[in-house]
Amino acid sequence: MTTLNYEFFYTWVQSNLNIQLGAYKEKQLQRRIQTIMRQAGAETLEEYSELIGGSLSVKKQFLDYITINVTEFFRNKDLFDNFEHLLTTDLSKKFESISIWSAACSIGAEPYSLAMIVDRHDLPLKRNILATDIDETILAKARTGIFKDQDLKNVSIIDKSTYFKEVDRTFVLDEKIKNKVDFKKHDLILDTYQKHFHVIVCRNVTIYFKNEIKEEIYKRMGQSLVKGGLLFTGATETIYQPEQYGLRKVASFIYEKIE
Ligand SMILES: C[S@@+](CC[C@H](N)C(=O)[O-])C[C@H]1O[C@@H](n2cnc3c(N)ncnc32)[C@H](O)[C@@H]1O
Repeated sequence: MTTLNYEFFYTWVQSNLNIQLGAYKEKQLQRRIQTIMRQAGAETLEEYSELIGGSLSVKKQFLDYITINVTEFFRNKDLFDNFEHLLTTDLSKKFESISIWSAACSIGAEPYSLAMIVDRHDLPLKRNILATDIDETILAKARTGIFKDQDLKNVSIIDKSTYFKEVDRTFVLDEKIKNKVDFKKHDLILDTYQKHFHVIVCRNVTIYFKNEIKEEIYKRMGQSLVKGGLLFTGATETIYQPEQYGLRKVASFIYEKIE
């Protein structure tokens, strides 16, 4: 079996696709690269890089597979319910209007869930919800607002009938909700972070990163929140010693900016 030249491949990907693969957990990532490379019919990473460089569909397949965009509306419903409670009680008492960032938003189920909460409780938004991801293809999908039934399994019957129209076995999101969200490409590792958010939702992405990258992301998110703002992480993404980022734990996977 040939030894794969990951060093070459990471450098190639960095300069040609502007993605820093060195930030992702190594074993997991290399397993995925091997699988997708063999699926494309390449034996070596040099060969695979040529295939990626020469074909938009191979490139898209690589990016889709590497970035892992599994998601759904109100993912981990219990946690989302807790978060909704904090948002509509504590947080909205503290601020006249709020700004929200859904980071690594995949196909949009997460920011649109937030937009539904905002609509249901008539929460005043300072500006549209910012929804970002590294992957342009899924952002384009997010903007369509068209979903599959399985994406909606945690959506209540009432929300489903209020906010979606069923068309040919797909679910089309209401324009009122779509219009509350702005999608933008953003890389959590390489790009700068906007500031003055009252809410940052960043779920199920830092699990793929090495510890030092994860720490840097939480540090920067802490700096992007206003005092009293909330950070909501994924169901396996506990932040250890949140104080080092100016945060304190207020509920499971929910942290408040304290200074
Ligand atoms: C598993 S999905 C999580 C979606 C949603 N937050 C949720 O919890 O359901 C992970 C997302 O992270 C995005 N992603 C991966 N690396 C990223 C990076 N460096 N910067 C921004 N987004 C990234 C992927 O494109 C993917 O859409």
